[in-house]
Amino acid sequence: MRIAINTGGGDAPGLNAAIYAVTLAAHRRGWEVLGIHSGYAGLLDASRITVLTPERVAGIVAHGGTILGTTNRGDPFHYPVVDPSSGQTQFEDLSDRVLANFRKLGLDALVAVGGDGSMQLAHRLSLKGLPVIGVPKTIDNDLSATMATFGFDTAVSTATEAIDKLHSTASAHERVLVVEVMGRNAGWIALHSGLSGSADVILLPEIPFDIERVCQHLTESEGRGKRYGIVVAAEGALRRGETPHTRQEALPGRLEPLLGGIAEWVAAEITRRTGKETRSLVLGHLQRGGSPTAFDRLVALRFGAAAVRLVAEGRRDVMVAFHPPEMLAVPLADAVVGIKRVPLDGDTLLTCRELGISLGD
Ligand code: F6P
Repeated sequence: MRIAINTGGGDAPGLNAAIYAVTLAAHRRGWEVLGIHSGYAGLLDASRITVLTPERVAGIVAHGGTILGTTNRGDPFHYPVVDPSSGQTQFEDLSDRVLANFRKLGLDALVAVGGDGSMQLAHRLSLKGLPVIGVPKTIDNDLSATMATFGFDTAVSTATEAIDKLHSTASAHERVLVVEVMGRNAGWIALHSGLSGSADVILLPEIPFDIERVCQHLTESEGRGKRYGIVVAAEGALRRGETPHTRQEALPGRLEPLLGGIAEWVAAEITRRTGKETRSLVLGHLQRGGSPTAFDRLVALRFGAAAVRLVAEGRRDVMVAFHPPEMLAVPLADAVVGIKRVPLDGDTLLTCRELGISLGD
């Protein structure tokens, strides 16, 4: 057997652990493993393929990023190609070429590691005849078919540590600090880091907020003697009746719009409406970097080993899903219907309300 592995979408701590597990579990079965670089780029350009051996992947489990590289502009059905004469980016459907090169390489299966967008691509390629097993990763925790994805736990730890640090400076200056965290259209990172980091206000995409309620909460809190405040805003948080803030700098061919800018807006409004000195910061890609936590490593290693097990069992067009304590296979078609958002009746949200944290509603 000869299998390949690629990583797509935003990087997430734990990707290297998944690559390590796939490589070792396949080699133990006497199979060969090829690493495809930058999503599907390695299946369009043969110079972007690496042979993965246990020696090649030794020591990578604790490293952030991905030794295979990744991209969120790598949709083979809508692939960005720069026209050399005009310098303009055009889009071409190169999916047939991906399949032809996959067959030319004598591959039996592809382990595609990625988030929501990557699983959709994996499913579309499966329907065209590519034998794929999906492995879910994302710091956003927004894949509905699995109870956990690796990357999320590390991102929450990083964000919580940052919020902890903001408490001392906010308190010293009696300021309000608004911190924007990632998560796309799901508020998991904001909710978990905001609660763990004792935020005063948490703004989520799932609960459109009223800025007046946010200001009222901070003013009341000050009235009770707390002279500083911490607001955690998910990048996808939105005001009632509005859409999320997006940024203009996204390059063409992105699978998703680039969100951001809500913290700056909220901070300016708090200053304007309350007179409190308020600053904002965006944690951004810090949340995707660094060594994966033990939890993320374990999940990633188990996903990788389970993916190889599924290949051995002849399963295709499925995604590995974590349903503690089991690793299950769910059809890719089921894995890509809708994202997992924070439930409004969930216990974590209830805990926030019971501790007096404002959700801006
Ligand atoms: O999906 C992971 C993620 O980090 C999101 O939380 C964020 O919206 C997006 O990727 C950012 O993408 P980029 O790395 O292209 O800025």
